[in-house]
Amino acid sequence: MKNPEATGKEKSDSNGHFHENFETIAVRTQSERTQFQEHSVPLYLTSSYVFEDSEDMRASFAEEKERNIYSRFTNPNTSEFVEKMVKMEGAEAGYAFATGMAAVFSTLASLLNSGDHIVSARSVFGSTHGLLTKYFPKWNISHSYFDVNKPETIESLIKPETKILFAESPTNPGVDILDLEHLGKIAKIHNLILIIDNCFATPYLQNPIKFGADLVIHSATKLIDGQGRVLGGVTVGREDLVREIYLFSRNTGPALSPFNAWVLSKSLETLSVRLEKHCENALKVAEFLEEKKDTQNVKYPFLKSHPQYEIAKKQMRLGGNVVAFEIKGGIEAGRRFIDKLNFCSRSANLGDTRTIVTHPASTTHSKLSKEELEAAGISEGLVRISVGLEHVDDIIEDLKQAMRGSEE
Ligand SMILES: Cc1ncc(COP(=O)(O)O)c(C=O)c1O
Repeated sequence: MKNPEATGKEKSDSNGHFHENFETIAVRTQSERTQFQEHSVPLYLTSSYVFEDSEDMRASFAEEKERNIYSRFTNPNTSEFVEKMVKMEGAEAGYAFATGMAAVFSTLASLLNSGDHIVSARSVFGSTHGLLTKYFPKWNISHSYFDVNKPETIESLIKPETKILFAESPTNPGVDILDLEHLGKIAKIHNLILIIDNCFATPYLQNPIKFGADLVIHSATKLIDGQGRVLGGVTVGREDLVREIYLFSRNTGPALSPFNAWVLSKSLETLSVRLEKHCENALKVAEFLEEKKDTQNVKYPFLKSHPQYEIAKKQMRLGGNVVAFEIKGGIEAGRRFIDKLNFCSRSANLGDTRTIVTHPASTTHSKLSKEELEAAGISEGLVRISVGLEHVDDIIEDLKQAMRGSEE
């Protein structure tokens, strides 16, 4: 047990065996067995832990001992989940949060001071945009946005007070790709902390730390849970930075619940298998959409027509499960299409076993003004599909019949 929750230095499992392969890390990283010799990790539903005596208690609070004190700080289930994520991302340490947004907020808030400045991609998740534009200015923390299609402009936005370079790749919802190696180089030259929201890729498809990221954030609510059950978030990366994030979070209380950590750690056991199928289905859906005359601007990282296809190939193992496109005929045709779907779900989540179709302009990104949507490359007719694990023929059939409906 370590504070922060886990460090990636030790790669051995509870039996002391050393593992480096992703699938084995996912299955065999496990908290220590109890005296009951359980095979599958139990759920530790306890808010606090007991001490031998007052000296044990003092030493534990003084961090002279690595042990659980209170589940807002650490818990065996959250530590196991974090340790897996740390190893999968090739990080040094990590801390788990109740949601992806708790991870984004706590990470930024713990590292920034009044007067600091962030350079961020303009295409970020709607609530992250809300943090940067509405809440951080209250604490005198400013930002500048760069256009994801003009990464050559990033350096011109850096000021003496810039501390963080922030981006998602692929972006939500436009599925744009940023060159992580390029961002890593800029961050190094200008001594910035590079933070990558890796939610759309998961550690199975992409490891930003390899390209120079200092911290990697995930909404575990998406593909990491993968079954639309629980919320969660996690930040992994440099030990010194995670320590700051841990101390902030220990006081402010955004911790992941043990139950959700237990679910998420179990989910990681099947991440690689699920992702292989998600990506295979998504590529087929993207190829189908690209062929249709009723669609335009079909975007999927592993389609050759994607503007950053070569970069995606360089930094991602597979293209992910999200496809973005527009239905010809504008917002009304888009709405008709979504209304005509039979089994594909109309929902705002993504990364579920069930295929989900979303209209970002009226849902996840509805707080953005018309100009902000335009600048972020989110057209009013943009449709985002999170391709699930149903049979791909059935998914395509549902999309096909809904498109016929949208022409009526
Ligand atoms: C890229 C990205 N980051 C962060 C979040 C926030 O995650 P959560 O909903 O778990 O708070 C989301 C949610 O959709 C997301 O897509």
